[in-house]
Amino acid sequence: MLRNEPLRVLVCVSGGGTNLQAIIDKVADGTIKNTKLVKVISNNPGVYALERAEKAGIEAECISPKSFATRVEFNEALLTAVDNAKPDLIVLAGFLVVIPEAMIQAYRNRIINIHPSLIPAFCGTGYYGLKVHEAALARGVKVVGATVHFVDEGTDTGPIILQKPVMVEPGDTPEVLQRRVMEQAEWNILPEAISLIAEGRLTVEDGKAVIR
Ligand code: GRF
Repeated sequence: MLRNEPLRVLVCVSGGGTNLQAIIDKVADGTIKNTKLVKVISNNPGVYALERAEKAGIEAECISPKSFATRVEFNEALLTAVDNAKPDLIVLAGFLVVIPEAMIQAYRNRIINIHPSLIPAFCGTGYYGLKVHEAALARGVKVVGATVHFVDEGTDTGPIILQKPVMVEPGDTPEVLQRRVMEQAEWNILPEAISLIAEGRLTVEDGKAVIR
């Protein structure tokens, strides 16, 4: 179904924010249509992702688990901040926080995540950031890539939306491979997934993401 109102997108970050920047740039140049970035939330203070948001004029907030006595209180504060932004879609862009169950239930099939591997390879608990690329190089795979998927109660287990392969090259270090996966895959398929949702072209049927 075609939307009238722009898709309200909230982006969660933890670090450098290069995926956030790709989204900002593609909304600005019209590659991502009918979309408004309404809020950025970081679990870490002082990260460059927050500066990127502020430079782009997007409301940004840090909600750190360290500021709360218990995880339950952090989870409640996170969900309250998300609800207050009234998002249609929540994008986890390098967000290294376990999403509270209540948030997954409240935003079923409205939370997407970018993972730096071709799921189901090199994913699940403990596979994040450079660790993913270290494991891929240790296994000696020839092809890696990135995956955008809906977030469910598991870790990297929700319906797969888009994937993009990237070749491993001789002499790759984890850092070099991570950068290539970001440049060639992550920064393309995450904006593309947002665009598909904003254009009403993505549904979940029998647990599978369907693009029309
Ligand atoms: C990257 O490794 C990305 O694959 C993962 O989070 C890390 C940082 O991304 N999703 P960013 O630069 O903060 O977007």
